[in-house]
Amino acid sequence: MASRSRILVIDDEAAIRDSLRMTLEYEGYEFVGAATGQEGLALAEREAPDLVLLDVKMPGMDGLEVLERLRHANDALPVVVISGHGTISTAVEATKKGAFDFIEKPFASERVLTTLRNALDTRHLRDENRTLKKAVEVRHQMIGESRALEQVTAAVSRAAPTNATVLISGESGVGKELVARTIHRNSQRSRERFVQVNCAAIPEELIESELFGHEKGSFTGATEKQVGKFEQADRGTIFLDEVGDMSPKTQAKVLRVLQEGEVERLGSARTIKVDVRVIAATNKNLEEEIEKGTFREDLYFRLAVIPIHVPPLRERPDDIPLLVRHYVEFFSRENNVRSKRITQAALDALQRYRWKGNIRELRNTVERLIIMTGGETIDLPDLPESVRSPTAGVGPASTKPGPEGDQTKAGTLREFKENAERAFLVGKLRENGWNISKTAEVIGTPRSNLYKKLEQYQIAQETDG
Ligand SMILES: Nc1ncnc2c1ncn2[C@@H]1O[C@H](COP(=O)(O)OP(=O)(O)OP(=O)(O)O)[C@@H](O)[C@H]1O
Ligand SMILES: [Mg+2]
Repeated sequence: MASRSRILVIDDEAAIRDSLRMTLEYEGYEFVGAATGQEGLALAEREAPDLVLLDVKMPGMDGLEVLERLRHANDALPVVVISGHGTISTAVEATKKGAFDFIEKPFASERVLTTLRNALDTRHLRDENRTLKKAVEVRHQMIGESRALEQVTAAVSRAAPTNATVLISGESGVGKELVARTIHRNSQRSRERFVQVNCAAIPEELIESELFGHEKGSFTGATEKQVGKFEQADRGTIFLDEVGDMSPKTQAKVLRVLQEGEVERLGSARTIKVDVRVIAATNKNLEEEIEKGTFREDLYFRLAVIPIHVPPLRERPDDIPLLVRHYVEFFSRENNVRSKRITQAALDALQRYRWKGNIRELRNTVERLIIMTGGETIDLPDLPESVRSPTAGVGPASTKPGPEGDQTKAGTLREFKENAERAFLVGKLRENGWNISKTAEVIGTPRSNLYKKLEQYQIAQETDG
């Protein structure tokens, strides 16, 4: 453990306090002693100890009462109870009241130290878990308070505790995956796996073996047995992302899993029972796909037991300021910079923008702003031209020329690229003290190539005088 752990000892016998002080300090702990329950409670508050060693039998306020008050004030603080010989029943009671462990008098110092280490480790782990869980929660929070998003969250809460299949629809970047994960996290299956399959990213020849698994030697290249995603998700949730991109053959097989609750590995005649909750997502309009004959209607009805549509960001502009503030905070923390202020004018422009890439685009835009804006304030001129201009995002109007900054002088795409490349290289060289090898490594190019570029752009090291 990094810092010294502080142990508060509450015991009315001075001899015991002294001997514990010696043992603890010898082992590198910090010792705080109290002779009465009252004093102990006060010190517990003032000294913020990492652990309390508490005697049960004391004049005045007895140990059990002290224990109750300690637990009430801070239930994360571990308390180890010291009980006199033959008072085991009291010790048991203490454990029931939330003591971490108990030690019987007279005790060997080894016994005390082992118990302390156990208690401190347990506490350490629990703290760590808490921090991790909190970080995960922030990362997966659904931000927004528009009516549209409220309807989504209401549907999520209704769907989560059930086992019903959910079909999430919506444009790219609206938060479909986030919705799927939120449902899983709030379901009875939350302790089991959430297995994600991106149906659009897996080549047609592989998707069946990916989903259902295969036996060794079932086809050329199947050198090892593979357990399919459905089996991996047993007792948990499978997330079929981009489900509209599945081939008719795969659709038929998935339908079978949904109907029968069983899978067959390729090359095996054995059926395996699986208990899997299915959540599917698509950015296609599946009704249209059914019309076109590319998506099975029966599968659609199986999937859309609970349909959830996530509306595009431009239809819920009320969420934009909250999201912007959330991501400003988030990326400031991530990049270790002071949180920047954002002006109303900039916020208004961000709110008017059409966000074709939805929340993902907004997130990337804010991340870039945090990194690129020098000052403490993000104002209108700091925004990308496409966001700033009032016609931005409304169809082809946004294709008018007007790249940012120095690049405006660039006439052709080539000139633009060269200007940008030159500026990038100079910046990186400066950052790395004009050390060519280091710069080449940082930007991931061979040294020879970097030398070539220096010559091409006639870049020479700046000197201060
Ligand atoms: N309501 C929200 N609050 C905060 N962050 C959100 C919200 N909705 C989405 N996000 C974030 O936006 C990004 C895109 O979300 P997600 O990946 O869930 O979208 P998607 O609909 O699955 O997109 P695609 O169709 O491209 O796969 C993620 O970083 C996600 O955390
Ligand atoms: Mg997605």
